Amino acid sequence: MKSSTKRKSEEFLFPENSPEYSEQVSLVIEKLKGAGIFPYGSAEIKDFEKRLELALLRSYRQALRVDAKEFEFGKLSKEGPIAEETEKLMASHYDERAEFFCNFLDQSFMAYSMAYYGSEPDVIASSKASLEEAQTNKFELFCKRAQLKGNEKVFNLGCGFGSLEKFLLAKYPEMTVTGITPSAVQVKYLKEQMNNSDSVLSSGRFKLLEGNFASVSSETLGKEYYDAVFSVGVLEHIKNVKLTLERMEKMLKPGGVSFHHLIASYHAIPRFLDSSKTKIDKYFPGGRVWPVAELESHDEHLELEKSWYINGRNYWRTLDEWHKRFWQNIDNIVGPEFGADSVKHWNDYFCLCKIVFSPMNGEMVGNAHYLFRKK
Ligand SMILES: C[S@@+](CC[C@H](N)C(=O)[O-])C[C@H]1O[C@@H](n2cnc3c(N)ncnc32)[C@H](O)[C@@H]1O
Repeated sequence: MKSSTKRKSEEFLFPENSPEYSEQVSLVIEKLKGAGIFPYGSAEIKDFEKRLELALLRSYRQALRVDAKEFEFGKLSKEGPIAEETEKLMASHYDERAEFFCNFLDQSFMAYSMAYYGSEPDVIASSKASLEEAQTNKFELFCKRAQLKGNEKVFNLGCGFGSLEKFLLAKYPEMTVTGITPSAVQVKYLKEQMNNSDSVLSSGRFKLLEGNFASVSSETLGKEYYDAVFSVGVLEHIKNVKLTLERMEKMLKPGGVSFHHLIASYHAIPRFLDSSKTKIDKYFPGGRVWPVAELESHDEHLELEKSWYINGRNYWRTLDEWHKRFWQNIDNIVGPEFGADSVKHWNDYFCLCKIVFSPMNGEMVGNAHYLFRKK
């Protein structure tokens, strides 16, 4: 599948090393407003976000009425294949160029998940932490909640650009981490890092598995080998959590832990359980927002020790920072592979995602943590 973000831009007539190139970039940026594509912080974007927020607030209020009476927790996440539409997901989102993601993700880890600014909306809003510091805060919180000692063998499902790996390997000299991703772009980036002596990923303590967790063989995953299995921002892409936890249970040593960080709603929002019913489908086909209680119902393979809800204003602020950096670096971003259509695609993405976390002061949609243990 060819993604809309990868269409060659017709606005670029001259090659990147020609004298006319930077003039072309400026022309495209100038044309954006005329095409109704407004930058971060503009009155038009603020107004767009306000209107989106009001519409979402209405559907959240409606969901609150449905949740208590009709929603059957613990059913949907125990059906179907482990993951659906993974190839389409990679093509339409994760396989955008790594250089593009570098333009807005934090400079320390290239983490592509919520950063942690605090527990309450006022603390989150007034936090002086940079994006880099807030990502560090998140990883420190994982270590505490997953009760890591520092000498574990860790597996990380959906490793992205190796953000958790970079943090853990630098913090704990005795730790080893194996990460898996089906994204060709992420694999290429990680292999470069593994050959770069400045990167902790070259320490020999990082192992990369290329592929889909749903289809990789059990032999490749290993049996009773790991002390801790993580997923960060991945169970949103998983359909059958029961089968996923079953695979993880087999990989873990007795007493090992399975720790998960994911976007979650405090109450069930039925529309969010099927991405094809929302505008997010264009970005994350096959994705969903699980209600906190849905994953709490899984006790067949691992024992749930504890779960936490994290206020959504944390992700709002993370996405807002990504959106700001995207526009600050727009001169680097726009090019033959990234014309006005792509700017619109990603500009809408930041607004749409940000607003999911905003209504009800972040108390309806945020993130959740789960700590499971092998019996
Ligand atoms: C939101 S990103 C999070 C990346 C990383 N954990 C982080 O926090 O920086 C989701 C990750 O899940 C991976 N992913 C999605 N579906 C997957 C699957 N079926 N098997 C393995 N990884 C998957 C994506 O390739 C991507 O690396």
